[in-house]
Amino acid sequence: MPAADLEALAHPSGPVLVVGGAGYIGSHTVRMLEGRGIPVVVFDNLSTGHREAVTAPFVEGDLRDREAIRGVLREHAPRAVMHFAAKCYVGESVHQPAVYYRENVLNTWNLLEEMRAAECSEIVFSSSCATYGLPVKLPITEDHPQDPISPYGRTKLHMEHMMQDYSRAYGLGFSALRYFNAAGAAGDGRLGEDHDPETHLIPLALQVALGRREEIAIFGDDYDTPDGTCIRDYIHIEDLADAHLRALALIQRGERQVICNLGTGEGFSVQQVLEVARRVTGHAIPASAGPRREGDPARLVSGGACARNRLGWSPGRTDLEDIVGDAWGFHKSHPQGYGS
Ligand code: UFG
Repeated sequence: MPAADLEALAHPSGPVLVVGGAGYIGSHTVRMLEGRGIPVVVFDNLSTGHREAVTAPFVEGDLRDREAIRGVLREHAPRAVMHFAAKCYVGESVHQPAVYYRENVLNTWNLLEEMRAAECSEIVFSSSCATYGLPVKLPITEDHPQDPISPYGRTKLHMEHMMQDYSRAYGLGFSALRYFNAAGAAGDGRLGEDHDPETHLIPLALQVALGRREEIAIFGDDYDTPDGTCIRDYIHIEDLADAHLRALALIQRGERQVICNLGTGEGFSVQQVLEVARRVTGHAIPASAGPRREGDPARLVSGGACARNRLGWSPGRTDLEDIVGDAWGFHKSHPQGYGS
């Protein structure tokens, strides 16, 4: 990022309010903001986040509570918001759509309304490649049709539409960052991925290596891919965090709408990920192929030039061994997660 932009971010015009800053992606972003001298306040209800993951000023609160949002906006007068707080399990969303519409759509509306009242008009938020649905072409560029196949993906798309409409009508500056598969951990092992229950491939494989699980199930080995298992685009969590700072700098410079895919552009199959996890951990990580998981497309790989051209961003850590190695560093030092 050019030095001038970083200076603008560090300008003492109020902190960045990071909603959901105790979660996996939020906590890495908070740490990066702080590392660059940018003041931060975290607002999180700790439903899935971890208090131990945050060293920044912390307010425990819920986006369902308009008074609580109003209070934090009034007290800290943030110059902008980063919004990571959402439910994010595709499978769960199929069975509990009401929870997803409330937590993702309604809570985001609460936040936007309180921001509007407080005249806080800039936001960077977590969107998802799940807004595209089944790919009709690969790699998936930002102009790919958005036709999500899960309630989760639909709620993220509603959030994007809400921001577009607020941008047109009220001048909201927003960035929607459509993540592919966030993975890895902080290079020093202090922050990492800790969900309960865990559903993601890499942490589950590492839990097998730690002896917390016997084996890992491969969800389908009959896909139309070279080894029959699903292909995903794994992006290092610190690269993801870095893109958020760049997106914030851009909207603070006056851009009103920044919508970018965030991935590496390279896909790895489930089998390839497990092979890398075996090499990194030195553990056999037994795996057995089972049925497909509902809603899993065979391939999801990021394309598009927005991140490169508009954010000046490219992923720095594309070697899957590095990504899994950093995740392993966190898992070894936190074998039971943050409570270890
Ligand atoms: N997988 C297995 N076994 C497991 C867990 C996962 O084989 O025990 C496979 C999945 O089927 C998939 C791949 O590993 O092919 C990656 O699965 P993850 O659960 O780690 O990640 P997803 O691709 O399902 O999810 C990610 C994000 C979601 C987002 C979704 C969009 O975590 O937030 O991509 O498709 F919605």
